[in-house]
Amino acid sequence: MSNFIDLKDLSRDQLLDLISLSLKWKKEAHPKFMADKQVVLIFEKPSLRTRVSFEVGINQLGGQSYLLNEKEMQLGERETIEDTANVLERYADMVIIRCFGHGQLIKYARASSVPVINALTDFSHPCQVLADLVTFIEHAHNFDNKKIAWFGDCNNVLQSWIEAAALLNFELNIACPEGIKPNAKTMSWAIERNKNISITHNPIQAADGANCIITDTWRSMGDTNPNPENIFVPFQVNNKIMKVADKKAIFMHCLPAYRDKEVSSEVLEGDYSVVFDEAENRLHAQKAIMHFCINRKF
Ligand code: CP
Ligand code: NVA
Repeated sequence: MSNFIDLKDLSRDQLLDLISLSLKWKKEAHPKFMADKQVVLIFEKPSLRTRVSFEVGINQLGGQSYLLNEKEMQLGERETIEDTANVLERYADMVIIRCFGHGQLIKYARASSVPVINALTDFSHPCQVLADLVTFIEHAHNFDNKKIAWFGDCNNVLQSWIEAAALLNFELNIACPEGIKPNAKTMSWAIERNKNISITHNPIQAADGANCIITDTWRSMGDTNPNPENIFVPFQVNNKIMKVADKKAIFMHCLPAYRDKEVSSEVLEGDYSVVFDEAENRLHAQKAIMHFCINRKF
């Protein structure tokens, strides 16, 4: 068994295998490898895509899912995280967690004898970025000499994108306001592996010739950071940005999106946008992740 906590825990080949398996199961029938498996979902934050794609995936694979939402479960509140993990492992074959602190997720995973999946923390969102990589491959076919540009906040989704860039070696340009920075430790780890990961405060420069433009909300769930919204305004993805990107460039956003904030309505709803493919690919990617956790090897 294996946990799925962060992309950086994977080898390059494991990540490529996860992408291939997601694409395969998008097209072909998959084995019902979750038959009789019981899966608990602990969601301390709201979710549409992550929760529903996991639950539908578990059901399609023959398993059963049980949701504990934020009203029933706040990790470490009624009992220690370790006690919760040691109880749930007696009932369930896998636990999927969306929580605030990444440290809480790690604590849970260390105590658990059944696989734990990171369904988003304040730090990272690896399940999302696996689905994004799948979506990118559908459109661009490979990562060779490809350029991906991220706009706006340096948040959990970006964290997983940086880890993906380190493993897969594509160029990643991060366009963000001065004073907003990705995690320093992750950046030095990633740049050691891939010199083409860079930060700029110039959005046009970041977008120039890019094969994919990505953004996300300026304020993530539970973000108590007092950054005023206006610092992000120059980093809005709009037609001005898309026009300097490659002519076949795609626009991605994990959703939910805030129209005319981080992305203009015309880009979100325009021809460049693949946001609903991304959302669909969450389902195929979740199945590949659960297969990895149960079987470890492909
Ligand atoms: N993209 C994503 O994770 O969406 P939810 O918050 O709705 O799960
Ligand atoms: N960065 C966003 C992602 C939502 C799926 C958040 O954490 O709220």
